Amino acid sequence: MKTLGFLGAGRLAQMLAPKAAKAGWKVILSNSRSPDTLVDLVQSIEGDASAATPADMIDKADIVILAIRWPQITAATSGLPWNGKIVIDATNNRLGPKPEDFIDIGNVLSSDVVAGHVPGARLVKAFNHEPIPVFAQALPPQGDAKVLFLAGSDAGANARVAGLMRDLGAEPIDLGPIDQGGKLIAMGGPLTNKFKLYSPAEAKAAIEAAP
Ligand SMILES: NC(=O)c1ccc[n+]([C@@H]2O[C@H](COP(=O)([O-])OP(=O)(O)OC[C@H]3O[C@@H](n4cnc5c(N)ncnc54)[C@H](OP(=O)(O)O)[C@@H]3O)[C@@H](O)[C@H]2O)c1
Repeated sequence: MKTLGFLGAGRLAQMLAPKAAKAGWKVILSNSRSPDTLVDLVQSIEGDASAATPADMIDKADIVILAIRWPQITAATSGLPWNGKIVIDATNNRLGPKPEDFIDIGNVLSSDVVAGHVPGARLVKAFNHEPIPVFAQALPPQGDAKVLFLAGSDAGANARVAGLMRDLGAEPIDLGPIDQGGKLIAMGGPLTNKFKLYSPAEAKAAIEAAP
C-alpha cells in the first residue's frame, strides 16, 4: 500500500486525503499541534487514515504533500528529515483569493523558495493550479475534464506523483522541470485558475499557446 503524508491538515488536506484514501492510499495527517487534535478528522475519512507528528509522518510516507500556508512554511518544515523524500509543493504565495492576499516574493519561483526549506527533497509542483473547490468537485473526474498538471526536475519523483494522480482518476501531464514547465503552473501562470480541469485536448492546446 502506498502512503501519502500531509504536512498540514486544513482545507487542502481535508479535500485530498479522503479521495486518496478512497483510491487505496494510506493517508497520514499531521499539523503543528498533535495527532490527538486530528482524531475527529481521521475518523471521518473512509479507508486507511491516521494522524502522526510531522516527523513520524515523513518517516512513513512515500510522498509528502505540503498542505500549509505560505507564512507557515519556515516553521512547518524546519528540522524535518527531507533528504530523498518525494515532496509535492501544493503551496502558493498568497493568503487567500483576493488581490491583496498576494504575498510578494520578488522575481523568483515560489517552488525555488520552497526547495530551500526542504533540503534534499525531490520536489514536484502539483495540486496548486486550481482552487480547492475545483479539485474537490472534479476528482474523480466524471468525463474528459481530468487533467492534473505537475512539474519537477526529478523524473522518478514526477512519475510517482503522476501515479497518485492516475489513482485519483485524473490524467497527469508532466510539464517538465520546475524552472521551465513549473512556470506554467506557478501562481498567475498561464495554466492556472481555469476554474475547471482541462480535457487532454484542451490541455495540449493551452500548453502550445502558452508563452
Ligand atoms: N485556497 C485554494 O484554493 C488553494 C488551492 C491550491 C493550493 N492551495 C495552497 O494549499 C496550501 C494549504 O492551504 P489550506 O487552505 O489547506 O490552508 P489551511 O486550511 O489554513 O491549513 C493549513 C494547515 O497547516 C497546519 N499548520 C500550520 N502551521 C503548521 C506547522 N508549523 N507545522 C505543521 N502544520 C502546520 C494547520 O494546522 P495547525 O494550525 O493546527 O497546525 C492547518 O492544518 C496553501 O499553501 C495554499 O496556498 C490553496
